[in-house]
Amino acid sequence: MEKKLKNLEEECLKAVIKAENLEELKKLEIKYLGRKGKLTLILRGLKDLPKEQKPLIGKLSNEVKNTLEKAFEEKKQKLESAGIEKELKKEFFDTTIPGKARKIGHIHPISRLQEEVERIFSQMGFAIMDGPEAESEYYNFEGLNIPEDHPARDMQDTFFIKGKGDKKHGRMVLRTHTSPVQIRTMEKYGAPLRVIIPGRCFRYEATDASHDSTFYQVEGLLVDEKTSLGHLKGILAEFLTRLFSKPVKIRFRPGYFPFVEPGLEVDFSCFICKGKGCRVCKHTGWIEFMGAGMVHENVLKSGGIDSKKYQGWAFGFGLTRLTMMRHEIDDIRLLTSGNLRFIKQF
Ligand code: PHE
Repeated sequence: MEKKLKNLEEECLKAVIKAENLEELKKLEIKYLGRKGKLTLILRGLKDLPKEQKPLIGKLSNEVKNTLEKAFEEKKQKLESAGIEKELKKEFFDTTIPGKARKIGHIHPISRLQEEVERIFSQMGFAIMDGPEAESEYYNFEGLNIPEDHPARDMQDTFFIKGKGDKKHGRMVLRTHTSPVQIRTMEKYGAPLRVIIPGRCFRYEATDASHDSTFYQVEGLLVDEKTSLGHLKGILAEFLTRLFSKPVKIRFRPGYFPFVEPGLEVDFSCFICKGKGCRVCKHTGWIEFMGAGMVHENVLKSGGIDSKKYQGWAFGFGLTRLTMMRHEIDDIRLLTSGNLRFIKQF
């Protein structure tokens, strides 16, 4: 009996040493110490032993049991800590590696100029309006006094959107200018009015360094009981002077747009050479800036405004073009190219 116990102890200890993982160890524990385990069976048989053997074998069995339990416990801890170490090794990361610098972007030069334009006009009491980029033929053309067969329609090559459209509003187009929002604003708010409308416009252009199918404009509209082109000139000179932080002069020339009467082309004195002549102003001292004029009475009517009581003026300039002049950018396509090396300069 004594021998049997000793053998069992030795056998079990050897197996414990060999066990490579917790699972194996658990199985061994069941095999030797479990309810039907080898040692348990021996312990149960104790009661059948002759009386004089009982104390000795009983003591020995208990010792074997304790030794084995201890061995299992020690091995268990060993395996567990080895497991944790392994996990830690897997998760280890080198805290001395320098972090990846997060690249911070910045606002696009067109958006920045738009924000400046909005700020200056807001300070002069103008509200900022918005309108749809996909517009009806009515708002883009008819309502602005450009009838179907009017030759002015040829001035703006247009992206038409598929579909028949309805009788009053016609087909849908990508707006060719921000002027349709003049009518929308008059319809919505009536007179008097003082607004600017910055926004994206589209023309079916053959793309080159100075033409793109997508560009930005800013429309201006003032409607009141009494106003004149003198006010327009004053407002524009003030706007440009604030924008460039130096005095800017304005020049009016006659121009034609069906939605104004009289119509004007507006130039400003070159902000780079101050009128002496340079590359930006093509050596004229003046920069062609925008179209403008007194709002045509048919347009006031389209907007539901009493043209006997109210008059107004409107202007429209290219925000994209102004951005190009400001930064002396010579190719319009760069602005929407997504070329980071270009855009990071601003
Ligand atoms: N809508 C015109 C254009 O795109 C500009 C303009 C606006 C002219 C308002 C006169 C009055 O060219």
